[in-house]
Amino acid sequence: MPKVVVLPGDGVGPEVISSALEILKLVAPDLEYQEFAFGLAGIEKYGVPLADDVLEAAQKSDAVLMGSVGGLPGSTENVPREMRPESGLLKLRKGLGVYANLRPSSVYEGLEHLSPLKPEIAKGVDVLILRELLGGAYFGEPRSISSEEGYNTIRYNVNEVARAARWAFEAARTRKNRVCSVDKANVMEVSEFWRREVQKVHDLEFPDVELTHEYADSCAMLLVKDPKRYDVILTENLFGDFLSDLASVLPGSLGLLPSASLGDGTGLYEPIHGSAPDIAGMGVVNPAATILSAAMMLRYSFKRPEVAARVESAVKAALFSNPTRDLGGSAGTREFTDAVLKALI
Ligand code: NAD
Ligand code: IPM
Ligand code: MN
Repeated sequence: MPKVVVLPGDGVGPEVISSALEILKLVAPDLEYQEFAFGLAGIEKYGVPLADDVLEAAQKSDAVLMGSVGGLPGSTENVPREMRPESGLLKLRKGLGVYANLRPSSVYEGLEHLSPLKPEIAKGVDVLILRELLGGAYFGEPRSISSEEGYNTIRYNVNEVARAARWAFEAARTRKNRVCSVDKANVMEVSEFWRREVQKVHDLEFPDVELTHEYADSCAMLLVKDPKRYDVILTENLFGDFLSDLASVLPGSLGLLPSASLGDGTGLYEPIHGSAPDIAGMGVVNPAATILSAAMMLRYSFKRPEVAARVESAVKAALFSNPTRDLGGSAGTREFTDAVLKALI
C-alpha cells in the first residue's frame, strides 16, 4: 500500500490536515498514513523541530503531506536558529531533495467575486510559480550574525538553475507554453548568472517554449495589474517566496494556495500559508489550500490525475456554496470540509 507521512505541525496545521485526510480517505482509501510531530510540536515531543527518525520515515515514504509550522511571528527570535520550527522545514526540504516548488494560483470561473481585483482583471488568471527551493539565500554559505553585522549569501550554480528551469519549461508545455523568468539581473551577479543559464537551457532543450525575462520588482507590480500576462513564472527561492504570497491574493486568499515540492525522490505537499496563530483552534481556518495540496499529491506522487481533478472540482463547488471567512463568507472549517465531501459523494 502507498505510504504517506503526515506532519500536521503547529497552529492551524492539525486542523487543515485533518480536513485533507477526511477527503483523502474518501477518494483514495488505499493510502496508508504515518503521523509525526514536527515544528514546535516536534520540539515538544523529540526536543528538535525535525527528528532524524522522522526525516528518515519521510524519505522512505511515497509522499509527505504537511500542515504548517511556527508560532507567532518573532516568537522564536531568541532561540538558536537550528531549534526554530522553520529550520525543521528547511531541513525537511533539503533532506527530501525537493528543489522544484510548484505554486499554482488560479481564479476559478464564476469565482472572480472572491478576488480583491476588478472582475475583468481577475477573470481567467492561471499562473504557476515555479520556485527554486534548495538554493539562494535560504541555504547559501557563508552566513552569519554577530553584534556587528549580519549577512547571507545568494548563490546558484549551473546545475541548480538548470534543473529548476527544466521543470518550468516542462510545465509550460502542458499549459500555455510560456515561461517568464524573474530575477534582479540589473543589480545582482547571481541574477545575471541565473538569466544566462535559463536562456541556455531554453535555447538548447526547449526552443519551442516562449521565454521572457523580467525584473522581480516589475513582476510584483504586473502580477497585480495584469496577472493574465503570466503562464509559468520561474524564479529563485526568495523571490518565489514573496511572489507566491502575492499571487495568493489573486484568487482571494492565502488559504487557497497549495504547493508541491518535487525533486528526484519523495514529494512534499503543503499549503503555502503558515500556522496562522491568530486563528488557530477557532475552527475558522480555510482548509482549501491543504485539500488542494493533497490533490497535487494524488496527481504527482500517485499518478491519479482523475481523482485529483475530482477533488479540485469539489473544492470549487464548496467555494461557491460555502466560502470561508477569509473569503468574506461565513463557513467554518467543518462546514467547508462537509461541502467538499458532499460534492464528492
Ligand atoms: P500566516 O500565513 O500564518 O498568516 C498570515 C495571515 O493569513 C494571518 O492573518 C492568518 O490568519 C491568515 N491565514 C493564513 N492561512 C489562512 C487560512 N488557511 N485560512 C484563513 N486565514 C489564513 O503567516 P504569518 O502570520 O506571517 O506566520 C505565522 C507563522 O507561520 C510564523 O511562525 C511563520 O514562520 C510560519 N510560516 C510557516 C509556513 C509553513 O509552515 N510552510 C509558511 C509561512 C509561514
Ligand atoms: C513558505 C514559508 C517558508 C519559506 C518558511 C516558513 C521557512 O514562508 O513555505 O513560503 O520561507 O519558504
Ligand atoms: Mn512563504
